[in-house]
Amino acid sequence: MPPARPLVVTSDADLLEDLLRIAATAAVEVEVAPDAGAARRSWAGAPAVVVGPDAALGCGRLRLPRRPGVVLLGDDLDDAGIWQLAVEVGAEHVVFLPDAQAWLMELLAEAVEPSSTSGRVLAVVGGRGGAGATTLAAALAVTAARQGRRTMLVDGDPLGGGIDLVFGGEGDHGLRWPELGATRGRLPGATLTGALPRMNELSVLSWDRGQAMSVPVEAMESVLDAGRRSSDVVVVDLPRQTDACSRTALQVASLVLLVVPAEVRAAAAASRVAAQLAPACADLRLVVRGPAPSGLGADEVAEALGLPLAGYVRGEPGLDLALDRGEPPAGRGRGPLSVLCERVLDEVLPPVRGAA
Ligand SMILES: Nc1ncnc2c1ncn2[C@@H]1O[C@H](COP(=O)(O)OP(=O)(O)OP(=O)(O)O)[C@@H](O)[C@H]1O
Ligand SMILES: [Mg+2]
Repeated sequence: MPPARPLVVTSDADLLEDLLRIAATAAVEVEVAPDAGAARRSWAGAPAVVVGPDAALGCGRLRLPRRPGVVLLGDDLDDAGIWQLAVEVGAEHVVFLPDAQAWLMELLAEAVEPSSTSGRVLAVVGGRGGAGATTLAAALAVTAARQGRRTMLVDGDPLGGGIDLVFGGEGDHGLRWPELGATRGRLPGATLTGALPRMNELSVLSWDRGQAMSVPVEAMESVLDAGRRSSDVVVVDLPRQTDACSRTALQVASLVLLVVPAEVRAAAAASRVAAQLAPACADLRLVVRGPAPSGLGADEVAEALGLPLAGYVRGEPGLDLALDRGEPPAGRGRGPLSVLCERVLDEVLPPVRGAA
């Protein structure tokens, strides 16, 4: 089934041109009906309806059913008759161009991709260098996709070398951060998802092999916002050093996982990182990674850091080799990382749609 399109009802060529331009700016495809009769078929099912003043009377006369989300475009602010037409057509709003351009853009974008159905953001940070944060972020995303969730993986670490390498996807075509650096404001989620490379059934926003650059806060905001509208889960791999951009991701994340190897010095380093993260996080939990050379327990690390333990994951034999070959972690759905990821996802995300 193709997604339902907002319906535009008018045969006024100038008005239609304006509306199509507004829809194109919002990257929304609309269905156009020249009059009430032609609009009848899609009237009830369209996610929004914009009626021109030329067609409003006809819509009222044909007694098209009352429905929410009908907007009447007025052409004359001083014409009291427009309000009468609004009653007849059952319009929720009467708006005038050009003043209402931005409002209409938002209405059309919201109609096809409501913010209210937002997915969750999960962020992962390493407690020290090489802790296993990128690996866990990739494993969470791979597991979420395998569970049937629409998943986006965002590499938020400009010095990480590119998370596409974890998937052996460095040659895959599609958008990467340098092309998105100038992004501001509302970005249609479906457009972003469609433009990103797909790896292991998920959308990956990574770096290219060019010069390192930082991500502007506005670009991170736009990407996460778009990702949440088009995905059930957005996993973000963040650098250890908190800056304005990573704080943006921390603040929207419903869960932040701090990965700490089960070593004394790693725990000491992680307590510094945790102190930076905590003020920005709604829910900060620890993942302790083995092996523990001196037998340091995950509970002891959690207690020392004063953070709840999301889980312990023992070191996965052969993982370093697999990563070097571009085989993503948890790809086969077995092993300690897979088990941990499934448990964490099931705990913090709503059940998968359509699952028994
Ligand atoms: N669960 C694991 N089991 C075994 N080895 C692991 C595991 N997680 C990570 N590693 C090893 O640690 C290395 C570093 O992992 P990773 O790149 O995920 O860490 P990081 O915290 O993202 O590092 P950075 O500080 O560079 O961002 C991996 O190449 C792999 O060899
Ligand atoms: Mg990393």
